Amino acid sequence: MKILMVSSEVYPYAKVGGLADVIPDLSMALSRRGHEVVILMPRYYRIDRVLLDRHPAPLEIRLGEDEIWAALYHTELPGSDVGIWFLEHEELFGRAGIYGDESNTDFPDNLRRFAVLSKAAFSLCRLLQWYPDVIHSHDWATALSQTYLKSHEDAGQFKECAGVFSIHNIGYQGLFPADNLSALGFGWDDFHPLGLEYHKQISTLKSALVCADGITTVSPNYAQEILSPELGFGMDGVLSQRREVLSGILNGTDYGQWDPSRDQLIPYPYDVDSLENKALNKNFVQQEAGLEISARVPMIGIVSRLVTQKGFALLLGENGANLRRICGELGLQIIILGTGEGWIEDSIRKAASDHPNLRAYIRYNEKMSHVIQAASDFFLMPSLYEPCGLTQMYALRYGSLPIVSPTGGLKDTVKDIGSDPEGTGIIIDPAMGEDELYNALQQAVELWTNRRDRYSLAQKRAMAVRFTWEDAASEYERAYLNAIDRRRS
Ligand code: ADP
Ligand code: GLC
Repeated sequence: MKILMVSSEVYPYAKVGGLADVIPDLSMALSRRGHEVVILMPRYYRIDRVLLDRHPAPLEIRLGEDEIWAALYHTELPGSDVGIWFLEHEELFGRAGIYGDESNTDFPDNLRRFAVLSKAAFSLCRLLQWYPDVIHSHDWATALSQTYLKSHEDAGQFKECAGVFSIHNIGYQGLFPADNLSALGFGWDDFHPLGLEYHKQISTLKSALVCADGITTVSPNYAQEILSPELGFGMDGVLSQRREVLSGILNGTDYGQWDPSRDQLIPYPYDVDSLENKALNKNFVQQEAGLEISARVPMIGIVSRLVTQKGFALLLGENGANLRRICGELGLQIIILGTGEGWIEDSIRKAASDHPNLRAYIRYNEKMSHVIQAASDFFLMPSLYEPCGLTQMYALRYGSLPIVSPTGGLKDTVKDIGSDPEGTGIIIDPAMGEDELYNALQQAVELWTNRRDRYSLAQKRAMAVRFTWEDAASEYERAYLNAIDRRRS
């Protein structure tokens, strides 16, 4: 099959969260299965053109009355046949941020920026005279590719091309004022509940849910959860109507990058038979972070976007009281790496200044994310919801037992030590209050301190678990074929 992936994030060129990891990994796994995969993304300001080839011809993109001229740059994902095209348009993408500026404020022209990207997918294919069987777009930013495919490209070369849309996070819905309709190339007759309209606004996400021939999300459990009012974020109705085209496909993990025995970003590589080296990583981090140097105290790692979704309100409690109680009463160390919402950053910084066993790095740093995974004994993810979650999968491989909420992909990937003889982590009680989180951490300390034999067995099991992109790619293949059938019938 020929597949065009359209995405706002692709690692290592531009990354905010897990979406960036998924695109190259899935594309390469599909390519290994014999498919021809091409990726389209913006050339953000920080992506160096020096290593890219410029296409000789300019690219014309039509958005309503508007004619937009852009340039294209090309390369291949390292070590693969997957081609990646970068859409260059100085005014739209010549900025350091992907969705917003340093202070986390969204750019005011995001609708236009990502509508142009979504529409450019078709111009790119025409320019290259390369027509895919599937256009696969991801989350609100590239959702409009599905809408354009259904409404503007229903005849001609794209007539047989199927649209597949993946939900990585239903909480981000691409909501914009309705008066942008004509700038997108749509008319008021497209603005109805079965199209772009969502509570009198435009929702790019919703429109893709209506238009796509196939919808996937990133874990089987989340595919169920988004059909409910609690976790559907208002999209459960439209999704229920499209239930037969919805499937949940668990993300994989790139074990080439996330392998503690070959990881060049960590000071002491290790594997299940050399765990003494894992202890050296912990010692290294304790020294670097100015924490007490002790093998006896369990280290809890957090690597996360610092956003409400990730459960920080619960962890912090009112004015940081829960985190203070945890740090004050439980014999543990916590190390946090992340950036995000200002109030979370501030509260964490404040708590860290009062507690010597809490250290926070408020930044984005790839190397540190590996080092923390390697050094920690447990990895905490108290997410309110979690479509899949990649970091708990990395944690399992690194023998850092995940402590997770019973939600989404966390439930699909972690087995609770308390209730499952094959347990690989700790699942927080479903009541999910501050006390439940406290109790889960207390359980972790107890396991580490008094039940080390049990901890070690769970750690060995955790390190043996694999979530492969090969498995995921074969399921995507099925989803693509079903979508193609639907488009052509
Ligand atoms: P989400 O996509 O919701 O943020 P995931 O667990 O799917 O959650 O993916 C998060 C990805 O971003 C992981 O690869 C994780 O290591 C990375 N990450 C998150 N915050 C940071 C940070 N501050 N520094 C480095 N990597 C980070
Ligand atoms: C989203 C989700 C996360 C998922 C990632 C990649 O950002 O929040 O759970 O792992 O996408 O699919």
